[in-house]
Amino acid sequence: MMSYVLGIDLGTSSLKGILMTQAGEVVTSKSASYGIDNPKQGFSEQRPKVWVEALEDVLAQLKSEVADIGTALAGISFSGQMHSLVVLDENNQPVYPAILWNDVRTSAQCKEIMDKMGEQLLKITGNIALEGFTLPKILWLQENEPEVWASVKHIMLPKDYLGLYLTGKIHSEYSDAAGTLLLDVEKHAWSEEIAAAFNVPMDILPEVVESTDFIGNLTDEVKEKFGISADVKVFAGGADNAAAALGVGLISEEIGLISMGTSGVVSSYEPKVVDYKGKLHFFNHTVPEAYYSMGVTLAAGNSLSWYKETFGQGLSFAELLADVNTVSPGSEGLLFTPYIAGERTPHFDSKIRGSFLGISVRHEQRHFSRAVLEGIQFSLRDSKDIMETTKGKKFSRLISVGGGAQNPDIMQMQADIFNAEMIRLTVEQGPGLGACMIAAYGCGFYTNLLELTKAFVHYQTDSFKPIAANVARYEEVYQIWKTAYSATSQISHQLVDFNEGA
Ligand code: XUL
Repeated sequence: MMSYVLGIDLGTSSLKGILMTQAGEVVTSKSASYGIDNPKQGFSEQRPKVWVEALEDVLAQLKSEVADIGTALAGISFSGQMHSLVVLDENNQPVYPAILWNDVRTSAQCKEIMDKMGEQLLKITGNIALEGFTLPKILWLQENEPEVWASVKHIMLPKDYLGLYLTGKIHSEYSDAAGTLLLDVEKHAWSEEIAAAFNVPMDILPEVVESTDFIGNLTDEVKEKFGISADVKVFAGGADNAAAALGVGLISEEIGLISMGTSGVVSSYEPKVVDYKGKLHFFNHTVPEAYYSMGVTLAAGNSLSWYKETFGQGLSFAELLADVNTVSPGSEGLLFTPYIAGERTPHFDSKIRGSFLGISVRHEQRHFSRAVLEGIQFSLRDSKDIMETTKGKKFSRLISVGGGAQNPDIMQMQADIFNAEMIRLTVEQGPGLGACMIAAYGCGFYTNLLELTKAFVHYQTDSFKPIAANVARYEEVYQIWKTAYSATSQISHQLVDFNEGA
């Protein structure tokens, strides 16, 4: 009998459940959305209860569509929004809303952490303190809500809360634990040194296991509620970026991942710890014993949507970008920096702002459209280049997902700017696919990662290859573009201060 695996992706705006067969075919997917609470400027929160409600909604939808789910479901796993802090009391009840990864209330706490043990933190965790990460949120709670903090008996990441709901057991796993800034990434253990430095009792940290490790069976209550009679195993799962990396087959150093969503992410598989000196994020992978590095362009797709809303009103994306191929590489001397929401990689700078540089009377809308697309790719190239130069190794192929993969002009632009063969997936399922793969591996349907990837990840046969003349042209303009950050940083900072003071 063919069994099913269920991947649950706990996102920032919705929860998606993908049901697949053990052979890697999609049966169906269902989702339920929820909002973000912003009680104050810069605050971004969700109550863990809404995630459970969304999960129940998705399980009920799946149950009503797939008649044999109750008997054929073999395994469940997760992918989840990273870094968000969930705090529970001794009865496993949330004592504060989850403070999300995109909450920026913790600038002072990041400074405190870096002042106290910056170098050592980088050595142990592979990362520097950023507002989004979990440790600064813990410090914020200690300083601003001491009574709440005093009642905290367990802390965990969002998807681990769903694991608790389904199995009654508390666990976390390395890929998400790495995003807390409390994990010694190389030793695969919570860092007693960091925990002690910031007064985090070790006994409130969950046991950490591998992504593919079994964490428990469904509770009788859940089984009854959703009419499940099968003996369903639940596996720990992974951070969404790590699960997404697995879901595109990032299990070797030869290939890289370029994802152009609202933000843009470049990821690389890492078989061992690499010292990127905090320029990239560095986390444990969902693949046992492995890691991945990651660079982030904060406004990738977001730059394009902002540009369309502001300068292309009434046009569809297809119309707006229809004639970008009539403009030559380099947009005839027009540059765009996509720093409209600040930047992460390689410039950790919340006060940098975007710019168009080199505007001349000859430039028309099509030049601006192309310059925006090129500026986004140049910024992604910054991250890719750090990976390649640090490791002394070029990617042979890059997998493109997200908005860019839908548009042949963008795919060619990526091939020319990254000077690499660009490939696409046949169907994009996002991090939930990685969660299904974790469940399938955990269930023992596959014993090796190559086989698992062969069954679940499918690439389109046509690829986009670099065109030598374009590569040369882009190389020249990229070197100029790279100087735009330092040329505009002071004026950006002054303008932000000027505007905030107004
Ligand atoms: C990664 C990060 C985001 C979240 C989104 O560092 O903050 O990509 O994982 O869920």
